[in-house]
Amino acid sequence: MLKVGIIGATGYAGEELIKILLGHPRVTISYLAAEIEKPQPINRIFGHLSGRMEVVCKPLDIAEAKAKAEFFFLALPHRVSLEVAPQLLQDDMPVVDLSADYRFKDRGVYEEWYGVTHTDPGNLQKAVYGLPEWYRSRIRKSKFVANPGCYPTACLLGLLPLVKKGLIKPDSVIIDAKSGLTGAGRKASVDFFFSEINENAKAYKVDCHQHAPEIDQILSYIGKTSYQVVFVPHLLPLNRGILVTMYVQLKKASSIDVLYKLYRDSYCWEPFLRVFKDHAPQLKDVVGTNFCDIGVVKSKKHGLFILVAAIDNLIKGASGQAVQNMNIMCGFKESEGLL
Ligand SMILES: NC(=O)c1ccc[n+]([C@@H]2O[C@H](COP(=O)([O-])OP(=O)(O)OC[C@H]3O[C@@H](n4cnc5c(N)ncnc54)[C@H](OP(=O)(O)O)[C@@H]3O)[C@@H](O)[C@H]2O)c1
Repeated sequence: MLKVGIIGATGYAGEELIKILLGHPRVTISYLAAEIEKPQPINRIFGHLSGRMEVVCKPLDIAEAKAKAEFFFLALPHRVSLEVAPQLLQDDMPVVDLSADYRFKDRGVYEEWYGVTHTDPGNLQKAVYGLPEWYRSRIRKSKFVANPGCYPTACLLGLLPLVKKGLIKPDSVIIDAKSGLTGAGRKASVDFFFSEINENAKAYKVDCHQHAPEIDQILSYIGKTSYQVVFVPHLLPLNRGILVTMYVQLKKASSIDVLYKLYRDSYCWEPFLRVFKDHAPQLKDVVGTNFCDIGVVKSKKHGLFILVAAIDNLIKGASGQAVQNMNIMCGFKESEGLL
């Protein structure tokens, strides 16, 4: 059994990692840490773990972490991973980092959007972007994976088959995205109070959300030309789930059958991708799972093409994808613990 440590175990992504890994046949959770002042049994922090798990969650101690576990998930806020990851990587410990700290190859872009100086450029260049469907062979050889953001996961899985084939006009991509509240983490702030969110829906960070440059980076890399998407996220009164509707202009008109076939061919072997023709996916079908559902919906006016993608932000958008990456890195069956 692989001994696994979760650093940031008391957050939403950490909690989801615990839930998934408890059902994983090849791992045992041997170390849990968070920012807490005093050690506390994790089953007192998350009551649903009572009788299922005895591990005590402690303030982070790197020496203890390295002694107790042999594979790490960092479910930490950005900036904090920058301090923790190098201390594990220097001893060759395999790490999947769920924060944004190692997702950008250009540290200037990270610094501009996250307002932090990147203090670990060496490991930044070593990190592999952890979108298994597009980076699998590199993930397999890597000891350090930067798990994608939740919105980028849904958007990239939806757009990349077209981008890879160079079929869309790079300056034409408009993304209308919706998320539930757990996307913002477990910290309290007025914006996330029940009374602010309930019976409400609102756009936020309109065309200035930090996930837009992450989407641009990967589209530009795989499409071999510069992409700059328009990305507008919205907050819905839901616990979890991400639904993105993407509008693109095709370079040449095409039929829905041709485009649907492209998606089927691109993803037919993927364990967690389901593609639908003329059917818009819904959150109900993916929440609680590691699936990404993609609807190839319309191809009519002026070459306009519409795609809809749905994921659970905490599973395919975070912890499920992180476990998928661990499975690939460790040579386990990719869907182990996730189906
Ligand atoms: N939520 C999502 O849907 C989602 C999706 C994709 C990626 N992510 C990324 O995943 C990471 C975790 O997200 P989250 O939503 O789980 O956040 P969260 O609910 O705010 O949890 C953050 C965790 O980090 C711990 N922590 C904070 N500062 C620490 C420090 N200095 N030392 C040790 N532990 C520290 C917290 O411990 P305490 O509880 O003790 O403060 C908590 O366990 C973030 O980088 C986020 O951007 C989240």
